[in-house]
Amino acid sequence: MALPRIAWLPAVLGLLTGLDTPRSHPPATRRAHATRPATQVPEARLIDSLLARMTLEEKLGQLNLVAGVSDTAATADLALVRQGRVGGFLSVFGAGATRTAQRVAVEQSRLGIPLLLGYDVIHGFRTIFPIPLAEASTWDPAAAAATARTAAREAAAAGVNWTFAPMVDIARDPRWGRIAEGSGEDPYLGSLFAAARVQGFQAELGSGTVLATVKHFAAYGAAEGGRDYNTVDLSERTLREIYLPPFRTAVRAGVGSVMTSFNEIGGIPSTANGWLLTNLLRGEWGFRGLVVSDWTAVAELEQHGVAGSRAAAGALALEAGVDMDMQSRSYLETLPALVRAGRLREAMVDEAVRRVLGAKARLGLFADPYRGASPDAERAILLAPATRQLARDVAVEAIVLLKNDRDLLPLTGKLRTVAVLGPLAESKEDPLGPWHGAGRAQDVVTVLRGIQERMGPGTSVRYAAGCDIAGTSTAGFAAAVALARAADVAVLVLGEAAEMSGEAASRSTLDLPGVQEQLLEAVGATGTPVVLGLMNGRPLALPWAAEHAPAILETWFLGVETGHGVADVLFGDVSPSGKLPVTVPRSVGQVPIYYNHKNSGRPPGSEKWTSKYLDLPATPLYPFGWGLSYTRFRYSNLRLSAARLGPADTLRVQVTVTNTGARAATEIVQLYLRQDVGSVTPAVRRLAGFRRLALAPGEGRSVELVLAPEQLGVYGRDMTFAVEPGTYHVFVGPNSVEGLEGRFEISATPPGD
Ligand code: NOJ
Repeated sequence: MALPRIAWLPAVLGLLTGLDTPRSHPPATRRAHATRPATQVPEARLIDSLLARMTLEEKLGQLNLVAGVSDTAATADLALVRQGRVGGFLSVFGAGATRTAQRVAVEQSRLGIPLLLGYDVIHGFRTIFPIPLAEASTWDPAAAAATARTAAREAAAAGVNWTFAPMVDIARDPRWGRIAEGSGEDPYLGSLFAAARVQGFQAELGSGTVLATVKHFAAYGAAEGGRDYNTVDLSERTLREIYLPPFRTAVRAGVGSVMTSFNEIGGIPSTANGWLLTNLLRGEWGFRGLVVSDWTAVAELEQHGVAGSRAAAGALALEAGVDMDMQSRSYLETLPALVRAGRLREAMVDEAVRRVLGAKARLGLFADPYRGASPDAERAILLAPATRQLARDVAVEAIVLLKNDRDLLPLTGKLRTVAVLGPLAESKEDPLGPWHGAGRAQDVVTVLRGIQERMGPGTSVRYAAGCDIAGTSTAGFAAAVALARAADVAVLVLGEAAEMSGEAASRSTLDLPGVQEQLLEAVGATGTPVVLGLMNGRPLALPWAAEHAPAILETWFLGVETGHGVADVLFGDVSPSGKLPVTVPRSVGQVPIYYNHKNSGRPPGSEKWTSKYLDLPATPLYPFGWGLSYTRFRYSNLRLSAARLGPADTLRVQVTVTNTGARAATEIVQLYLRQDVGSVTPAVRRLAGFRRLALAPGEGRSVELVLAPEQLGVYGRDMTFAVEPGTYHVFVGPNSVEGLEGRFEISATPPGD
């Protein structure tokens, strides 16, 4: 099941693994360009000449991003396109609708400027792949690059040229429904996935690609209480250490656009935050692409209470650095009067227009506005067999085996009767997860079907839902229990409906909704071994299940190939290799809980006066990085290339990993770092490297992980990123709590000086 690899990816990832560039290093050696060397000369000339001919209304039209209705541009909006008052559409897709809109723009508007056509291709266009949180569980950025690349090809065939992805918000609060759309809680892992997806979507921006958007800038995942759109208040340190790295990495990878977040940070909504959008993004990071607001976020500056009118909101956003106004029409309708009254500089409008036209030029839209979109291309590309196979392979990699008492899994060939139970086992809608683009339920292979196909003739697979996802009726329990009693094993698929995560889908609890846990209890009481398959968009706090269900597979939402992926793992055709990209709490009361926390002055201990809850252990239910296999791995012989190094040196860490079991399997070897004493309080440990390692039974291999100054550095008291002298620990193992430990020292000057 080798996933197609993208040849250029490793080279790019090599550049991108750090939070920042330590001060002692010349930036030129490490910085990739924010975009291609901006607009090349002919493009610049084209843009200049267009700008010189544009009226103010036409300029503001380029900054106006309008939503389609049922995948199509509304007739009234096409009339606006003719007048040059629309720069792009979102959610207009399908070769027919996109070609129509483009034709109106290039053939019927005065200047013939083509449209940006944006869409949320979050985890697939028509072929729906695992949700991003699930993809992050693969710890395989190359897989994410492959799915993004394939999704881009599908979207481009349908006329989409711009995607509002990757979503790279770090999430430490599983109540927040949008945790499903990102890569979890870790900035290092999140950065690698951000870069991989940008490269996957954009490649060289040739045919079959789309311009990527990194979102939501910034700290959207830090909403108080995990409630979507809520206030964010955090320090510049936490912003830089935790929330910004994936954005910075996406910029280094050449992302074409950035979307602002809905939230405020410390009293300033992102959509009006000049420090964030201009000083940091463009100044410090050198971003030269396009900044787009989120949906009506410009007008929402009024609700935030920082603008007294829609015009004031528009001016604030433009001045802060927002180039395109998504859906609020504030720019289009209110800014002409401000410019004419001399309250807003037209040069500022021109700058934004340049960036929109630059994005169009970068996509090659002036040469070919359709970029290969056609019904024939759609027929050939959408849901192609190879794409479905990719979806299956990634689904398999994404599954995390949380528990497997007495090696209940994999199920063996000797089974005669399997009871497949639970409200999600036969669902075709939910496996698509939130934000599933143009995906369709009809394309989904359910868990039930996957198991039926795998069990084959002469066996019996019986199904009962037992209950609804969120309902209170237990009337279906008896049928489910009866099937379980008569079966060799019960596979119980429980979890959340797709719409329980994603945007505006925060939850105040992390339980199984409805009476699902009672169903688990009832089925468990039959004595038939139970495999619990979880389908959900966020970590769920299920201490009862963790204690009583003998085997638990976290499958998240795996997309169209859910059933095949689950069956591949259940029956041991592939050993699971997924690892958690998030911490799973014991109860919602532990939230926020994340592995890379600070020690505090009173770390949790047996004494009363320490940092803990009276009624819960300090540990999570499952730690970050956790995930079992059908085999066992032994870690041995940890070696460091030096016991002492200078601040500009690189440390090589080697370890031997041996597959001591009887099955071929892949292990994700994880390296964590701890600075013992810093100028500011260090995290107890932080991920600084990992490697996927496929091992045959009995095979042992030595793995090398490299710690460069980018991983070793920290933001000091004055927020300068530098490698600090002192002692450090490395931990290498299968997750964030187990493994071998080593120690090294960094001296203030290179050793020998
Ligand atoms: C609102 C969401 O926050 C954003 O992520 C998405 O791209 C836009 N709507 C457009 O659909």
